[in-house]
Amino acid sequence: MHVTRDVIIVLGQRYQSMIGQGETPFYVFDESEVRRRIRSLREALPEDTVLCYAMKANPFILEAACREAEFLEVCSPGEYRICQKNSIPHGRLTISGINKDPAHMRELISSPSKIHRFTVESAEQFALLESLAQEMDVRIPVLLRITSGNQFGMDASAAKQLMSGHRNKPHIDFRGIQFFSGTQKSSPSRITRELEKLDKLIESIGRECGAEVLELEYGPGLPVDYSEQDGARRSARDREYLGALRTSLSSLRFNGTVILEMGRAMAASCGTYVTTVIDTKVNRRHSYAIVDGGRHQISYYGHELALTPPVCHAVPTRHAAEPAIWTVCGSLCTSNDILIKQFGGSDLAIGDRLVFPNAGAYCMTEGISLFLSRDLPRIYLTDASGEMRLIRDRIPTDPINAFQ
Ligand SMILES: Cc1ncc(COP(=O)(O)O)c(C=O)c1O
Repeated sequence: MHVTRDVIIVLGQRYQSMIGQGETPFYVFDESEVRRRIRSLREALPEDTVLCYAMKANPFILEAACREAEFLEVCSPGEYRICQKNSIPHGRLTISGINKDPAHMRELISSPSKIHRFTVESAEQFALLESLAQEMDVRIPVLLRITSGNQFGMDASAAKQLMSGHRNKPHIDFRGIQFFSGTQKSSPSRITRELEKLDKLIESIGRECGAEVLELEYGPGLPVDYSEQDGARRSARDREYLGALRTSLSSLRFNGTVILEMGRAMAASCGTYVTTVIDTKVNRRHSYAIVDGGRHQISYYGHELALTPPVCHAVPTRHAAEPAIWTVCGSLCTSNDILIKQFGGSDLAIGDRLVFPNAGAYCMTEGISLFLSRDLPRIYLTDASGEMRLIRDRIPTDPINAFQ
């Protein structure tokens, strides 16, 4: 595969070798970028900020994430099994999630190696965890999740009620609260307001419940800009959000431990999705390029209406004699399988590769992967050397879509 100079300039040197390698469609996740990004987040935040990687964003980069972040947020038995496969100790796991399976909780609570924290999303979950801890006669550390007005967490008043009775609950170690209101925050001031409110809440818990909040686990939902072509503008926006977060954290009266729980902001930049043009056509004067991947394999936040086209580069870049605007479609039998509505970066031909940067968070797992019984894509990891390692081959989905 010939990689043109234009694309190397746009994507950076480290992409040079990997674009031409690998059978499409595939994802490649750069472990050195995961580590660089988490380190740069840490540098931008107040000293002593503890970092927790929300592994739902990308379960393939745990090893690199664990080298930089202190903890992992785990939301399902499946995510837990992935941690086990990666030999991640219980002491690094925050067990979270709106549906806590009783059998799974029993397994975790009875284990001799202690889980770092359990989050509690409701009075019912609290009762489950407390009864299991009583049964095993252990004391478990919990964070009560406060709702932002949706199905997650509980009202502050319900959390206060639980905390008020803390002296009568010898099997529960109340560590503090957890709060996450949503991803892709649309303004830095939202983060500021949330932290101000949490600060007041923590203070009122101390006053009204006689319980000390030792930890605040907060998900800022930092945004990633998928459509901004200009790297300098993307970085400026990132700095603006991080600056607001830093200022707000530094202004807290709360002086316990702050743990920032993040997925997208840690993982997005490490990932690239690569797919190949397998057909081109002009239907009613409209140019279509069909690729071997599709929306079952890649999904961007806000992709549904294809209103904000994600950044995408063609390899090789061929400048069209006349302006060429393409609709890039995937392999599914649905008119919704549009990857980009107006791709104008380059003329396209069969065999060209399309490269989607910033695809390291959620893009792979949030796709409609079972539709049309198409295979799941290959996954490669790479590091600073640029060598790609196949860590998961393509997986057929037809056995999942058939009688067992
Ligand atoms: C509880 C919780 N914390 C953290 C995150 C990570 O959010 P983000 O990827 O926006 O950082 C999520 C994502 O859904 C979440 O549910």
